[in-house]
Amino acid sequence: TVARPLAGRKVAISLGGTREPLDPVRFLGNRSSGRQGFALAAAARRMGADVTVVAGSIEAHPPRGLPLVRVGSAVEMREAMLAASADADVAIMAAAVADFRPVSVGAHKIKKTDGVSAPTIELVQNPDILAELVELSGPSQVVIGFAAETGDASGSALEHARAKARRKGADLLVFNDVAAAEVFGSGDNSVVFLDRDGGTVGAAAGSKADVAAAVLAAACDLLGE
Ligand code: C5P
Repeated sequence: TVARPLAGRKVAISLGGTREPLDPVRFLGNRSSGRQGFALAAAARRMGADVTVVAGSIEAHPPRGLPLVRVGSAVEMREAMLAASADADVAIMAAAVADFRPVSVGAHKIKKTDGVSAPTIELVQNPDILAELVELSGPSQVVIGFAAETGDASGSALEHARAKARRKGADLLVFNDVAAAEVFGSGDNSVVFLDRDGGTVGAAAGSKADVAAAVLAAACDLLGE
């Protein structure tokens, strides 16, 4: 028999990138493919969960028969994830959410005028969906985030991730070192699990399916299954 440790449980997963509109035809986007998120959705479903996926822009193909709530911007993703997470046992932010969006969206296409200097795009900060989910979560809900970091002069990638784990307060932060591997759009992943104090509580490596199974196993532990 197949173990279905998440039977009767609801799991909400955000994935893909956000698109922040500039004018009717343009947006600021990112390279998130949605592959890790779809692997999480497939694994959660295999473990018996009722899965809701909130999908931004994606390159990967969704697993067969998986319904998607499609969103564009971070503001739309926030609304959809708050709704999907309200009665979820596990909420996972696997999406690449833009930190900033254009202050105003032009009603008309931004035009190029000869001899006139290029426009300046003013940005404003987006809401932090993960932090909000943590804030709103009940004692029996598990909230999981992802952090792709690179090292720089002020610290290693792992040090940055530990600081982010403490700042965001998620039950689990799944860290990957993006300088160490080509993560975006690739089939493989290597991650470290951090708790809300920034401490290492696990690790996983292999295909995105392997990583997804490990993340959901950690979610089951946190649920007390
Ligand atoms: O972009 P950053 O490294 O801060 O992302 C860390 C985690 O926070 C990810 O799980 C991401 O989905 C989430 N996030 C969010 N809202 C934002 C930015 C990031 O929920 N505005």
